[in-house]
Amino acid sequence: RRKAPLKVMISGAPASGKGTQCRMIAEKYGLVHISTGDLLRAEVSSGTEIGKKAKEYMDNGKLVPDQVVTDMVVSRLSQPDVQERGWLLDGYPRTFSQAQSLESFKIRPDIFIVLEVPDDILIDRCVGRRLDPVTGKIYHVKNYPPQSEEVSSRLITRSDDTFEKVKSRLETYKQNFEAILPTYSDLLNQINGNRQVEVIFKEIESLLQKICENTSANKLTK
Ligand code: AP5
Repeated sequence: RRKAPLKVMISGAPASGKGTQCRMIAEKYGLVHISTGDLLRAEVSSGTEIGKKAKEYMDNGKLVPDQVVTDMVVSRLSQPDVQERGWLLDGYPRTFSQAQSLESFKIRPDIFIVLEVPDDILIDRCVGRRLDPVTGKIYHVKNYPPQSEEVSSRLITRSDDTFEKVKSRLETYKQNFEAILPTYSDLLNQINGNRQVEVIFKEIESLLQKICENTSANKLTK
């Protein structure tokens, strides 16, 4: 088994399936899942200073200022559980400046995964998305409805999941994505995210498996 913990970045447009895949990856590999969207939503709902700053941007489908998000991520990444178990960064970095901040701290992943999904499907996924506030699980009214009436009755819709806001989030994503790529071009793995959740997960698993094997092979030859 590989000694150094895995470090994974996952990127993709709104509703490309990052959160869904991250839950499965974190469970299988024991990585700490750091989702900037989830961290920010938690700050907003507890009414913290960060939450107050972030709310308006999020509600309008705009990016929260780099410094606010970067401070939050860097402080989370320095905690002992992350050092021990490895990390899975979901939704960060999202701008050139965020990627540069990580570089300046010498924080680099083993792999940069991008989930690719056509725009019309992304919009349908966002508008149909529902969250379980108790377990944090992500559902979709058509694609992945919950099995029990109890769960169905407590599902909530994200305030930024309306048609107009999704379009604006998608634009923002496209404007920034190209600028991040050069930093991670040697680690880039683009995956077709327009398939069944389990099929996508299998492909991610095989990529992560290769990293684990390569690292142990390097160790043996040293
Ligand atoms: P964030 O929460 O990161 O939103 P996002 O990037 O828009 O991504 P989503 O959470 O919408 O989608 P996802 O890819 O996780 O998809 P999911 O798995 O849920 O950020 C929200 C806001 O916070 C931003 O707009 C910004 O304001 C701020 N923010 C966050 N990070 C920031 C940063 N770094 N800098 C500045 N600001 C930042 O799936 C979506 C739906 O599709 C679900 O219903 C799911 O069931 C369904 N689904 C998933 N996979 C499949 C599949 N394979 N087939 C069919 N349906 C599927």
